[in-house]
Amino acid sequence: MPKVWVTGAGGLIGNYLVKTAPHFAPGWEVLPLTRQLVDLTDNSAVRTLFQRAVPDLVIHCAGLTQTGPCQQQPALAHQMNVHVTEFLCELGSNIRLFFFSTDLVFDGVKGNYIETDPIRPLLTYAQTKAEAETIVLENPRHSVIRTALNGGVSPKGNRGFNEELRRSWESGKTTALFVDEYRCPIPAAVTARTIWELAEQDVPGLYHLGGRERLSRWEIGCLLAKRWPHVQARLEQDSIRNFKGLPRSPDVSMDSSKIQRLLSFPIPAFSEWLEQNPDEPF
Ligand SMILES: NC(=O)c1ccc[n+]([C@@H]2O[C@H](COP(=O)([O-])OP(=O)(O)OC[C@H]3O[C@@H](n4cnc5c(N)ncnc54)[C@H](OP(=O)(O)O)[C@@H]3O)[C@@H](O)[C@H]2O)c1
Repeated sequence: MPKVWVTGAGGLIGNYLVKTAPHFAPGWEVLPLTRQLVDLTDNSAVRTLFQRAVPDLVIHCAGLTQTGPCQQQPALAHQMNVHVTEFLCELGSNIRLFFFSTDLVFDGVKGNYIETDPIRPLLTYAQTKAEAETIVLENPRHSVIRTALNGGVSPKGNRGFNEELRRSWESGKTTALFVDEYRCPIPAAVTARTIWELAEQDVPGLYHLGGRERLSRWEIGCLLAKRWPHVQARLEQDSIRNFKGLPRSPDVSMDSSKIQRLLSFPIPAFSEWLEQNPDEPF
């Protein structure tokens, strides 16, 4: 059986990859790399593990993935998002590798971005991802998957946007949601299925992977409020124009038709997926 490493296996997307593998990737032997198994910043430990049983594919999900911590600790963000990725690319120079990047590499002025659109990351998180993208794409065997806002159930219960919102409502907090900030949300279960289909093909390169529907933060909140009738939804409308914090990309919606053409199933619109999967934990 070919072997695949899934880094960040204790995170949202990595965990979905691992738990859906028996169904979508039965032909792969999956090695879930959690932080407990190996600290990815420890080059010598990573090299030893790699050389002990060289994988055929690395799906690199691990990273410093939240914008606030990246902004506060730029050196750590650089180490985790750029250096770790670079080292994995070096170790895996003769095998395939998928690197997860983000829709936030765009400034969000235009929206509906395609892969050839110029990037302009506004924050350290996205800057480090953009830097890593360039390194990854130097190897024609390797791929970059720019994904959008992913939702689902994460091992620690704090990585999906839905988990964050639900926790805040359950604790009695009211959430202000922007009516003018747009994303293409996608369930992590769909992201995982897509990656497993890609793993079966030899189609390296740069891909966008978001849901088929462009939604504002406010619209996403309303859909989730409907999904959880037993949770008291506490949401109010806000505008990105009132926001005083770090710069925000107003519309990072992506056109995912390039990756869609490779898939056996239609990437769902987020609202449609919620309707069609009422029993899926979310
Ligand atoms: N989720 C989204 O909405 C979204 C959107 C766009 C792009 N992405 C990208 O997609 C990828 C997967 O996202 P995700 O949501 O699954 O991220 P996540 O839930 O934050 O998971 C990241 C994982 O990386 C692990 N990690 C961090 N530093 C490590 C280290 N030094 N050694 C070993 N493991 C380490 C974390 O471990 P700990 O839990 O112990 O910290 C965590 O399990 C990321 O690269 C992210 O940037 C995600």
